[in-house]
Amino acid sequence: MNKNILLCVSGGIAVYKAVALVSKLSQAGANVKVIMTASARQFVNPLSFQVMSKNDVFFDTFDEKDSSVIAHIDLADWADLILVAPATANVIGKLANGIADDMVTTTLLATTAPVWLAPAMNVHMYDHPAVKRNLAQLASDGYQFIEPSEGFLACGYVGKGRLEEPEKITAIVQGFFSEKVKPLAGKTVVVTAGAFYVPLDEHHVISTKANGRIGQAIAEEAKILGANVILIDEKEASVHKLFEQLEGYQKQYPSTFFIHAANTPTIEGAPILSIEGMTAVTFGQKVIGEPMLTIVSDTWIDFSDTAEINGQFWDATDATQFAKAFWTYILQGDAQ
Ligand SMILES: Cc1cc2nc3c(=O)[nH]c(=O)nc-3n(C[C@H](O)[C@H](O)[C@H](O)COP(=O)(O)O)c2cc1C
Repeated sequence: MNKNILLCVSGGIAVYKAVALVSKLSQAGANVKVIMTASARQFVNPLSFQVMSKNDVFFDTFDEKDSSVIAHIDLADWADLILVAPATANVIGKLANGIADDMVTTTLLATTAPVWLAPAMNVHMYDHPAVKRNLAQLASDGYQFIEPSEGFLACGYVGKGRLEEPEKITAIVQGFFSEKVKPLAGKTVVVTAGAFYVPLDEHHVISTKANGRIGQAIAEEAKILGANVILIDEKEASVHKLFEQLEGYQKQYPSTFFIHAANTPTIEGAPILSIEGMTAVTFGQKVIGEPMLTIVSDTWIDFSDTAEINGQFWDATDATQFAKAFWTYILQGDAQ
């Protein structure tokens, strides 16, 4: 998990668990930085967090160590995810009302990263109508929560209010990022690479020269993004055979995503095929105006030495870079 996690620690008895959380997150490969409230420093010395995170610990909004940046903005921008653990009733109340009177709350208002709050407090505090109101406000503002667990509380009560265990929080964070980086998980992607031929008459075929690199790179990138990939890398196969294969795949894997990156000659009278319900992207040069192979698709990529994706031109000689740009577009665009 090579991600930047900013841990905001507020002043509850569970601060000691936040030290273990930094350790677990670091072991999981995260880069961790810590901001503490003044109350949090009553419980644990910042040195513990500094040693565990191997980074400076921040707590004073006006202590600008690096003159080239404003620390709270820099941290807010640096973070891929902000965890507030433990989140006190006080910090929850301030955030719900847009109050920014210390380094933690100021940074929280300055970030666009996802913020997760792990409330931890006395059971009656957690049940207080004001706290409930603030939590509801934060939920409607888009904040995520790591709910406190039930058990013995430091105050002597038994109930809901314990900070979730560091191992569990770390696992949730890891799950979040692995889902994020594997957007094609559970999807089948069929990619053609190379070249197909089209029969011209009984004895002749028309083919093109193609090395298959773009299709191979797209397939490789789809695997990295978590897809089940079927690569049809052909040098001497009929386009009719491809159609049969595709229909077979579609029956077998109903949500197949088809990418026709193989070079198929664009000639008059070449077959046009639609496969209903199959999401597809077709590459090709518009030699005779329209792509020869038409699969149900609203996405068409005009392709020669450069490929036009969404109005932007990419150098198609760098297949890997092209494949990354391709998937970024597909996963953001309507073709998803
Ligand atoms: C021993 C002790 C334990 C505390 N534990 C909690 C707690 O678990 N949760 C909480 O919301 N407040 C707790 N508080 C109260 C907060 O420290 C207090 O509301 C403080 O103003 C919070 O400041 P902060 O939100 O800026 O960190 C505790 C206070 C003391 C003295």
